[in-house]
Amino acid sequence: MAVAPHGEGGNGEARRFWEAHYRAHQRVWSGSANAVLVDVAGPLPAGTALDLGCGEGGDAVWLARLGWRVTAVDVSTTALERAATHAAAAGVAARIDFQQHDLAHSFPAGAFDLVSAQYLHSPVEFPRDRVLRAAAGAVAPGGLLLIVEHASVAPWSWNQDPDRRFPTPHETLAALDLSPGRWDTDRLGAPERLAVGPNGETATVTDNVVAVRRLRR
Ligand SMILES: C[S@@+](CC[C@H](N)C(=O)[O-])C[C@H]1O[C@@H](n2cnc3c(N)ncnc32)[C@H](O)[C@@H]1O
Repeated sequence: MAVAPHGEGGNGEARRFWEAHYRAHQRVWSGSANAVLVDVAGPLPAGTALDLGCGEGGDAVWLARLGWRVTAVDVSTTALERAATHAAAAGVAARIDFQQHDLAHSFPAGAFDLVSAQYLHSPVEFPRDRVLRAAAGAVAPGGLLLIVEHASVAPWSWNQDPDRRFPTPHETLAALDLSPGRWDTDRLGAPERLAVGPNGETATVTDNVVAVRRLRR
């Protein structure tokens, strides 16, 4: 699959890191959709969706199977190629536009009924608050922004810094800097879940979940 790169800004550090990460493993993620996305988007009518940091495409393929037209973005060519292969095998390739962006330097055009950022984290420098504000800016009137992020660290995570402080869901919401009176908050919380590590080990971890809807007016 040919994935057209969008924007060539920056020093390529994010692309190098994530490309090496994906190439080091035959498969990184389960291929299934993230549970909170399934819970939140499952009842919604299909429309247009933007999946930021789509990885190997589990969420994008799940959405496309439900009839969504998806723009799926990642910085890694290998991840995007695996996602496209997954989409083709599922028979939904025509409904997914895979785009390669380093979101620190370029962002997909358009307005979407659903913008999803599932664990959009990176150990290399990443202007996450700015990217999430751009994500809010890409939500169409009546549409939803769904952010799911780590709020605790699993024992097998790359980042075991004991001083690492995670934002609260309220802090993540505040950092979006949403115009007052223009958004409703659908979900704001920090649920626990049982996470499964690369060798099948399990641990209880916490996620922040922020879902905000842009009002139509
Ligand atoms: C922790 S993974 C989450 C993947 C997927 N959303 C999931 O929930 O399984 C973060 C993803 O974001 C992508 N990513 C990290 N930094 C990025 C950047 N600067 N621009 C675009 N994608 C990026 C990575 O390549 C990776 O696929």
